[in-house]
Amino acid sequence: MRERNSRIKEFYKLSRDERLNLLREFAELSEQDLLLLNLKDNLKFGFAEQMIENMISVFPVPLGLATNFIINGKNYLVPMATEEASVIAAASNAAKLARTCGGFTAHASRSEMIGQLHILDIKDIAGAKIKIEEHKTEILEFANSKDHVLINLGGGAFDLNIREIESISLGKVLGVHLLVDVKDAMGANVVNTMCEVIAPIIEKLTSGTVLLKILSNLAVNRIVKAQAVWSKEELGSDLINKIIQANEIAKIDIFRAVTHNKGIMNGIDAVCLATGNDFRAIEAGVHGYAAMHNSYKPLTEYSKNESGNLVGTIEIPLAVGTVGGATKNNPFANLCSKILDVKSASDLAQIIASVGLAQNFAALKALVGEGIQKGHMRLHLRSK
Ligand code: MEV
Repeated sequence: MRERNSRIKEFYKLSRDERLNLLREFAELSEQDLLLLNLKDNLKFGFAEQMIENMISVFPVPLGLATNFIINGKNYLVPMATEEASVIAAASNAAKLARTCGGFTAHASRSEMIGQLHILDIKDIAGAKIKIEEHKTEILEFANSKDHVLINLGGGAFDLNIREIESISLGKVLGVHLLVDVKDAMGANVVNTMCEVIAPIIEKLTSGTVLLKILSNLAVNRIVKAQAVWSKEELGSDLINKIIQANEIAKIDIFRAVTHNKGIMNGIDAVCLATGNDFRAIEAGVHGYAAMHNSYKPLTEYSKNESGNLVGTIEIPLAVGTVGGATKNNPFANLCSKILDVKSASDLAQIIASVGLAQNFAALKALVGEGIQKGHMRLHLRSK
């Protein structure tokens, strides 16, 4: 395969046609793909009608490309759908600065989602727990009997665990967690189906009432980590120290932490939207993860390595898919996945986490430097 290089100097100075030509070569786009990007074969109204209810039109959000990304040694032009000025310029700039030290390295755990069943009115909690444990294999088999595609791909429900939750108004509630490897799907459909399928068995075993049966958007076992190093020569020690201090402030002040994480989500949501992923689910999961340990924390960490370079890391749950739903049905999302050349949900999650880190680095660098208004607006105006 041809070598791809995402380091494109002064991309912003090119005309839209020149950008598309460059992208066409980079991502080996077809005439059909270009027609779509040129709005000549845009999201068909008939198709939009199938996606939602009461459809009257389609709402335009600009789609841009972040340049300069290297992730795990591979060059990427990253499609980002956003209405916010300077987001794409800032991410591209952070990615450019990260190239000196090799770009981003990222790793994703397997695609494990949690399905939840909440059971009320159980008279014998201990007995109910034992019964569920005794019938675990049968419950898992039943859950898996409804999705042969996932099983054939090596995924499916693989474990159950049980939590006792105390409630003043409801008494003791049993929470059953169904653990499902959803492979390259986001997972909501398959997990919700499985929860609904096993609910009658759980009711029978516990003599209780299943009130809720749905996946949890807090995907704590679907974690992505990304890291990048920014060189001391390029940033200077003073800027590096200030970025580390800014991150410390976010650790001790929730008002700052929320804004810090909002900046991360500027990048994450834009890639999720471009690839047809459910950014509300991602937002909910990420903020839940930030608050997991009794206080709300920033999702990035910064330190200096032995050479005095700045090391940035991000750790977040990312339930994104490359199959199913809008990721494939929406022709735009499909095309964006083609531009990214992603083969799996794990690849996509690693790109998204890296963009989140880039976005955060860019925001902190501007904030502790010339200020966000000047810094980001300069990038934005330059890219006009
Ligand atoms: C603006 O959309 C995002 C920032 O406020 C993030 C931050 O403050 O870290 C610049």
